[in-house]
Amino acid sequence: MLDNLVEHGWSQHQLFLPADLTLALAAECLALRNVDALKWASVGRGKQQTRQASIRGDQIRWLKAGQSLACDRYLQIMDNLRLLLNRHLFLGLDEYESHFAFYAPGASYMKHLDRFRDDDCRTISAVIYLNEDWLPEQGGALRLHPEGECTQDITPLACRLVLFLSADMQHEVLPATRDRMSLAGWFRRRS
Ligand code: OGA
Ligand code: MN
Repeated sequence: MLDNLVEHGWSQHQLFLPADLTLALAAECLALRNVDALKWASVGRGKQQTRQASIRGDQIRWLKAGQSLACDRYLQIMDNLRLLLNRHLFLGLDEYESHFAFYAPGASYMKHLDRFRDDDCRTISAVIYLNEDWLPEQGGALRLHPEGECTQDITPLACRLVLFLSADMQHEVLPATRDRMSLAGWFRRRS
């Protein structure tokens, strides 16, 4: 996984999260959606933040430690991954931030980079998918655009982890024909 990340700027791992944890996280994301606890994601930073559904159509909720057993288990696993990344790639990652993301059918996220112009702390992006029995024909792929290489479409199938370099990897979320849930997160260096 780490060799691919270094060599190609991205990597994926099919069965990263245990199935029972993935199910619990999917149920939590759906429950949050059903009580209207997700917020429309915005584009830009600070005062420039606006909702632009044509650029970004997901609804999100940032995770807080202690919000549920499942989230704490997930955050613990990601913290172990942070330590592994530091040990093997000497990245000096200090923290991990993450949110649930819910894309209703037809919602998408146009091609972008995860690093903000005024904040270069985000170093490695991580996305974990929560969708059981996803079929490629249902759309919703994460499309990576590695520089000088072919684009890569990754289906958002439950338990799958995708890692990529936040500063370099252009990527987009294609529209789907069914609800699409994920946990997006960023390993950060201290500013
Ligand atoms: C993001 C993002 C990808 C995905 O939230 O910045 O690119 O597959 N998500 O959900
Ligand atoms: Mn992104």
